This record gives sequence, C-alpha cells and structure tokens, in this order.
Amino acid sequence: MAKEPRLPRRERTPRPAAGGPKPRRAGPADAPGHDPLPAPLRAGSAPIHDALLGWFTRVGRDLPWRRGIDPYRTWISEVMLQQTQVDRVVDFFHRFMERFPTVERLAEAPEADVLRAWEGLGYYRRARQLHAAAKRIVADHGGRLPSTAPELRELPGIGRYTAGAIASIAFGRAEPIVEANSRRVLARLAAHAAPLDGTAGDGPIWEIATALLPPRSAGLWNQALMDLGATVCTPRSPICSRCPLAPHCLALKTGQAGAIPVSTARRTVIDLDETAVVVRRGAKVLVVRRGVGEWWEGLWDFPRLPAKEILAPLGCGRRRVVGTCSYTVTHHRVAVTVAACQASCQGPRRDGVAWIDWEALGTLAMTSPGRRIAALAEREGGMVGRPAAGASRPRRG
Ligand code: ADE
Repeated sequence: MAKEPRLPRRERTPRPAAGGPKPRRAGPADAPGHDPLPAPLRAGSAPIHDALLGWFTRVGRDLPWRRGIDPYRTWISEVMLQQTQVDRVVDFFHRFMERFPTVERLAEAPEADVLRAWEGLGYYRRARQLHAAAKRIVADHGGRLPSTAPELRELPGIGRYTAGAIASIAFGRAEPIVEANSRRVLARLAAHAAPLDGTAGDGPIWEIATALLPPRSAGLWNQALMDLGATVCTPRSPICSRCPLAPHCLALKTGQAGAIPVSTARRTVIDLDETAVVVRRGAKVLVVRRGVGEWWEGLWDFPRLPAKEILAPLGCGRRRVVGTCSYTVTHHRVAVTVAACQASCQGPRRDGVAWIDWEALGTLAMTSPGRRIAALAEREGGMVGRPAAGASRPRRG
C-alpha cells in the first residue's frame, strides 16, 4: 500500500433499532450440522472481530457518507457504489447531495433532472430506480427509509447487498454484506477455493459473511471488510504484511492468498462497429433518445446508421466522415465512425426524436458516447454552419 488510508472522522456506532438487533433469519448457515466457517475461524472469531474493528478505527477511510449517520446519505452512496469505484463516487456524491439534499427533494424532481445529476456515473437504471424508490419512501413510509433489510428490499434498486449495507450501517442491524472487496477478504480468510462465478455463485460467501458477523457493530464491521479489501487485501499482490487479519487468514497460512478468489469464466470482449451521424439543420442538431432495453435507456444520443426511418425523410446531403472514437460498455468494445451531414427538412414529429440547438446539448441528459461524438464533431469541423467558433463548445451544464 503506497499510502496509509486517512483516519476516518469518528463514526458513532448506530444504536440498534428499537428492540435491539434483529435475530438473524434462519438460512443454510443455520441448518443443523452445517457450519460454513472452517474450525479455526469459528474458534477465533472474537479476536478476528477485535483485530479488524481496531484496524478500521485507526486507518479506515474518511469518506463523505461516513460523516455522521444519515440513512438517506447511506442509501445514495451505496447505490452509487454498486457499480462505481469509491474515488469516482466522492465528487458525484457531493454534487448529488447539493442538488437533492433530502428524499423529498429527490422524489419531487423531474426524472430528467435526476438522470442529468447521474450523468457520468453510468448504469442509469440505478438513477431511475433511485427516483422511483424516493417516491415510494415519501408516499408509503412518511419520508423515512425503512430500517430492516426485508423492507428495504421491497424498494426499487435495493438488492441483498444494498439492503444489508443500509440496515447495518445506518440502522445498526446485524446484517451481512457481500460485495467485490469483502467477497475477496472473506474468501481468503476462510481459504474458500471454489470458483465464485460458478453455479453456486456467492452463496457460500454469504454464509461465511453471516456466520462471521460480530454480535455488535455490524455496520462498522461491514465497512471495515470493504476498506480492507480496497486497500490491503487487493486482488493482485495483497499486502499481507499490513493485514490485521493475517494471523487468522487461512489462505495466507496455506500459501493461497494470491490464488483466491478463484474464477472460472473470463468473459470475452466483443468488438462492435457503428456509425453515428451528426445531422444539422441550421443551428439545430438531431438527437434520438435510447429506447427501452438499450444501453443508456432514456438518455439522448446521435442516431446510428442505418436508422432509415429517422434519416430518410430529412433530405440529408452528402455524409462526411469527421473522425472516429471508441467506448466500452459491459463486455463490448465499440468503434464509432462519426459522420456529419446537413438536412434540408425537419421530417415528421416522432417520439424520442428531437431537433435541439447545438448550444443546448449540454443541458440534455446524454450518453457518454454522445458527449464524445459531440466534442469530436465540434473539434473536427462537423458542425458546418454553426455560430462563431469558440461560442459553440457543448457545455457540460
Ligand atoms: N463499497 C460499497 N459500499 C461501500 C462503503 N460503504 N464504503 C466503502 N466502499 C464501499
């Protein structure tokens, strides 16, 4: 680890919700005769708790959503963190909180504003579900997030991991979590050498997480697991000499720390080619909204060829290639040829198709490839007939 993580502002351990932590629901881990923990871990779980919680108190990361305990902030941060790295989330989190400081403000905002605030984080389904969940929280829960994992899971966009994180961190419930970093820590600690992407998936790790949960401070414990995975127990070259769990780690003991977690399948990357067309008509440019089931559903972009039904009625002149760019999405790598042309007429009105001032592109909730295509067209002179150079750079809003 190049740099020691900063000391967190002291976080209060949230008091368990009324009635104390809920007893864990029976699961496979509780079945008679079944114990997911290897014997040495079972015997040593109290020292393991002390070691990791002590480490977290000293060097846990100081992250904005950890300053004080506010279920709304915990929820927003956990949804942002579902598919985005901590470092990238921090700025977005601050901006989002400024724009939507309460669940009520989020619930009453137009969806386009929420998508706009989400721009750059990707996976826009998360933003749409967050918005839908905010409306439900206001309408059905009096503006307060429910405090138990099963109730939280009733809300759009909240799955097992996110429910466990909110219930434990914000409400002090004894709920486990499994996400990318804690999964690795737990797999190594228990020397769980079976593939985690096979048919059994994360099931065994959830059992280990459940069995290893400390009787108190589940929220701190869960955050400590994530921090340890992010800063010490890293995917490649874990820094075992700095690990508070090293004396207990069965993977280290058996020389498998670098080899666990085991993965079977590596998804192959699929290469795709597409042509985007920047169609101008005077000061306007044509944009299309991504449809249901498409990547970036609901966001605006430039049409891709062939798009005959959109482009044919516009009387477009000769298309001219202005450059190329590329992007990756899920396991696809897409090479984009960007062409520009002039339309002679507006064409019929259609849902999800709009002519917009070039200057106003910055105010649209737009896909990240769309932004890149706009910048490229601008730079490479694709915006023939635009107002004076320099005045027309697309704004990021
Ligand atoms: N990843 C997901 N949730 C997190 C959290 N609360 N802290 C750090 N990393 C995380």
